[in-house]
Amino acid sequence: MPFASAGRVRRGKACFPGGLLATLTDPGFFAMSSPRSNPVVLITGACGDIGRSLARIFAGQGSSLALVDLRSADGAEAQLAEWRKLGVSVCFRRVDVREPPAMNAFVAEAVRELGGLDVCIVNAGIVERGALLELTVEAWRRTLDVNLTGAFVTAQAAARAMVAAGRGGHIVFISSWVQDVPREGIGAYSASKGGMKMLAKTLALELAPKGIRVNLVAPGWVDAGLTGQHLQAHPERRPQVERQIPLGRLATADEVARAVRLLCSPDAAYVNGATLLLDGGSSLGLGR
Ligand SMILES: NC(=O)c1ccc[n+]([C@@H]2O[C@H](COP(=O)([O-])OP(=O)(O)OC[C@H]3O[C@@H](n4cnc5c(N)ncnc54)[C@H](O)[C@@H]3O)[C@@H](O)[C@H]2O)c1
Repeated sequence: MPFASAGRVRRGKACFPGGLLATLTDPGFFAMSSPRSNPVVLITGACGDIGRSLARIFAGQGSSLALVDLRSADGAEAQLAEWRKLGVSVCFRRVDVREPPAMNAFVAEAVRELGGLDVCIVNAGIVERGALLELTVEAWRRTLDVNLTGAFVTAQAAARAMVAAGRGGHIVFISSWVQDVPREGIGAYSASKGGMKMLAKTLALELAPKGIRVNLVAPGWVDAGLTGQHLQAHPERRPQVERQIPLGRLATADEVARAVRLLCSPDAAYVNGATLLLDGGSSLGLGR
């Protein structure tokens, strides 16, 4: 699926890697002002479960990858080598998203090495569990630092590069359904995602004139990453969780990645400042 920004309408044909030929004839179809054969996609938290799905799905359609994580790429070396063999350009660095100089330097390097920056996926995140009356201020700060300040630092670095290049682009935040729905025991996490939602909406407003669309994907329970680790430690919780999801199952990490891909596609060309809720209907059942 080709990428599109909120930039000017173009007509004609654009050839994307993987043999995908897109015909740009629909007036609602926005193409980047200079269409690129290998869109460059930055993903934070790339060594995590959802991060790895994002990287795989975007690499599969011919994107170049700029990947960062606090963890080293040790476990991912085989995958990185495999992609390089297939001709995918990949740049991985160990970067803390809370550190503006490090993020700015990484974005500059990615632009230099990969030829630009078209999509930024703000995915790195942590959860600190505990009722608010027991939560330490240190745990509160750690959560806000990574999930909210780190999101701001990442999006600002990426948006500055996109604005400087003048080609438009996409920013997608991986939020959570708890940005709108309070849950006991994860108050700091919910507050960070609520803040992320307003950060994204404000950026969407400020960046729309530059042809940059900004949106959020808000998953419910995903059978991977943060929830996966929690359910592994507390397997007795799984049936309770499944009962609360109208669709009867948790989401997969690939479903989250495909939702991000959809938001970056021409099919979502008029979607800006919006949340794509991916919770299997969980928030509908809250009143039951
Ligand atoms: N798993 C779920 O059920 C679920 C549901 C809703 C939203 N999310 C969101 O999805 C995103 C990805 O989470 P996941 O479930 O794949 O968890 P994960 O733990 O597998 O991945 C998170 C990654 O972020 C990295 N990270 C943490 N702090 C960082 C920092 N300071 N700088 C750089 N990288 C850092 C971690 O090293 C890890 O690799 C998070 O933002 C999370 O809030 C997850």
